[in-house]
Amino acid sequence: MSAFAERLLAWFDASGRHDLPWQHPRTPYRVWVAEIMLQQTQVQTAIPYYTRFLDALPSLPDLAAAELDRVLALWSGLGYYARARNLHRAARICVERHGGELPRDIDALQALPGIGRSTAGAILAQAHGLRFAILDGNVKRSLARYHGIRGWPGSGPVEKRLWELSESHLPQTRLADYTQAVMDFGATVCTRSDPACVLCPLQDDCVARREGLVDRLPEPKPG
Ligand code: ADE
Repeated sequence: MSAFAERLLAWFDASGRHDLPWQHPRTPYRVWVAEIMLQQTQVQTAIPYYTRFLDALPSLPDLAAAELDRVLALWSGLGYYARARNLHRAARICVERHGGELPRDIDALQALPGIGRSTAGAILAQAHGLRFAILDGNVKRSLARYHGIRGWPGSGPVEKRLWELSESHLPQTRLADYTQAVMDFGATVCTRSDPACVLCPLQDDCVARREGLVDRLPEPKPG
């Protein structure tokens, strides 16, 4: 296993979040709703909305059968309402084409509204333990620092390199824990403006730390 994955898993066991509502039980539908909410909302803000949403619409067929207005009302306060509309549309597609379940196939999953490559990977890794990488903003920042990657992560070549690095660190087991670990690590330790390098489980191997570049990586959009 890469040192990156090994240290993050050990950190997760000792200090990660193990009591998040989508972890118990970790079903595809519950993970999916969580990932969509967490695209633009922080964990602590999302949790009460998440609990209310799952109480009202506990399964994918419940979501598909609901009126759009009800879904939007459950979303109200979270903002970015396109997420709720996409969730609802995707649930109806799953009922029509996938037997009322989220597909396990990465391409079919990514074809659903609101699900990009990273969200698809997050769902498959967390819900099924499959070996797919994620690359959200937090993970881009952690990898750019750890490997000392220059350039703006939104540019094609840098993003491609970061996907390769994210895939290269995937462990052979514990994919759900590992995925939660990298997300929690970026959100709570390797933060954008005030990273906790003295507490970091990766500090010994971090290129940005060694070269004094932590506050300059990832590089901003040029121009
Ligand atoms: N951001 C996106 N998905 C997340 C998750 N499962 N936990 C914490 N932050 C996240």
